[in-house]
Amino acid sequence: SVAALDEPVPATHRTQDRRRPLGEAEHRDGFRNAPDADPAVAANRAWALDVLRRVPRSQLGARTIRRARVVDRSMLERIVARTAQAGVNWGRQDPHDRAELLDLIGHELETRRADLIEVMAAETGKTLTEADIEVTEAVDAAHHSAESARQLAAMDGDGARFVPPRLTVVVPPWNFPVAIPAGGVLAALAAGSGVVLKPAPEAKRSGALLADVLWDAGVPHSLLQLVDLDEDDLGRELVAHPAVDRVLLTGSADTARSFRWWRAGLPLTAETSGKNAIVVTPSADLDLAVQDIVQSAFGHAGQKCSAASLVVLVGSVGESERFRRQLVDATRTLRVAWPDDPAAQMGPLIAEPSGKLLAGLTELGPGESWLVQPAPLDDSGRLWSPGIRDGVRPGSDFHQTEYFGPVLGIMRAETLDEAIAIQNGTEFGLTAGIHSLDVDEVADWLASVQAGNLYVNRGTTGAVIGRQPFGGWKRSSVGTGTKAGGPMYVATLGRWERTERQV
Ligand code: ALA
Repeated sequence: SVAALDEPVPATHRTQDRRRPLGEAEHRDGFRNAPDADPAVAANRAWALDVLRRVPRSQLGARTIRRARVVDRSMLERIVARTAQAGVNWGRQDPHDRAELLDLIGHELETRRADLIEVMAAETGKTLTEADIEVTEAVDAAHHSAESARQLAAMDGDGARFVPPRLTVVVPPWNFPVAIPAGGVLAALAAGSGVVLKPAPEAKRSGALLADVLWDAGVPHSLLQLVDLDEDDLGRELVAHPAVDRVLLTGSADTARSFRWWRAGLPLTAETSGKNAIVVTPSADLDLAVQDIVQSAFGHAGQKCSAASLVVLVGSVGESERFRRQLVDATRTLRVAWPDDPAAQMGPLIAEPSGKLLAGLTELGPGESWLVQPAPLDDSGRLWSPGIRDGVRPGSDFHQTEYFGPVLGIMRAETLDEAIAIQNGTEFGLTAGIHSLDVDEVADWLASVQAGNLYVNRGTTGAVIGRQPFGGWKRSSVGTGTKAGGPMYVATLGRWERTERQV
């Protein structure tokens, strides 16, 4: 196999006791979301602590679990040809058979929950809780894709025939190194496609472990290939290859633009950046708002495209001393620690901040002041306390720029309309939130806000597969396709051809 594996994962590190037999009822009557690991269960606490003991800080980013072999030009050509051929054969199979394998993958992912958490924590610094919900999302992606394959079978043939992509290239980011590649790979497999997965350079081992779990569950190596491309021009060759029928990218808008430049008419589905805000009106439950703002701004140290890095306070909320104090207290008391601390609520940055993120953490714009000043907490340069800047003005750098770090800006508006204009006043449109208990306000907001995922009285991160299909507007989305984790996602990965109806 091209994706050669260096070392086996130690058997002791598998959580076999979590495996459940495939329940009859479970997969015969539609999709259900999986639960996260329940810390009230002693066995879960035990394996979680075991996982964390295995990610000592000194080893973060230093170990090799398994990795993809670096691919050169001639290997790439062979991989593409072989995977596309395997995809054609796979696409001819009954979608119900594909669904069966996807459900098995869901169970295998559940079984390997601890391994996946460990590698994410070690490689990207995810906290236990953040890594756990990410595995749940991957499990959901498997069962949801299975359900989509079954629905595809039901839709196929009635005046239109589904033509699966031969080969799908999945290019995920490092910040969700398991859930996002899982979402893309599993949807492509459901659609009947071969898949080449190219993990993010910062999260190769997480991508490799994911591929390993899928192979263990029964996905043929020929159908799913893991590649590590060292050189940009090979990435270009892969994306531009005529056998590639779909590219699923989650990354920057600039990368998406390059992809389209490399190949005119590229069948691209790209989720790109965001600059997301939560509006808080005077009718809001302010306690709930504080909780959701802190979670949305500082979860995974703000390194989520869905993160809220702005809050827009309407009218009297902007003057509320109680709100200000609660927000500051909730931020200051967050436990910021490396993921080997089981109580960590916010972990390290993926790398020492530089460029615009460093500026976001250290430099104030005109009229701005620190409510909570961010600071490095150790000499690694990666562990920063979260920050809140007050007085962010419309049109300023902080209003417009995606920083991808633990820093929240406070803006003020006289009216809800003004707040919506501020919220819409960036080039992005990924997530948006409102905290309001006034139904008319919420209705006005829903009618005017320009973002893909709108959240009312809830944080802006952690879209739940099947319930909150994920995808943006404006510069947050490039190319075609419906939202990931939604009902038509798999069906839009291929083409539909008209068939003659039998009279
Ligand atoms: N889908 C991820 C979230 O909703 C990015 O936070």
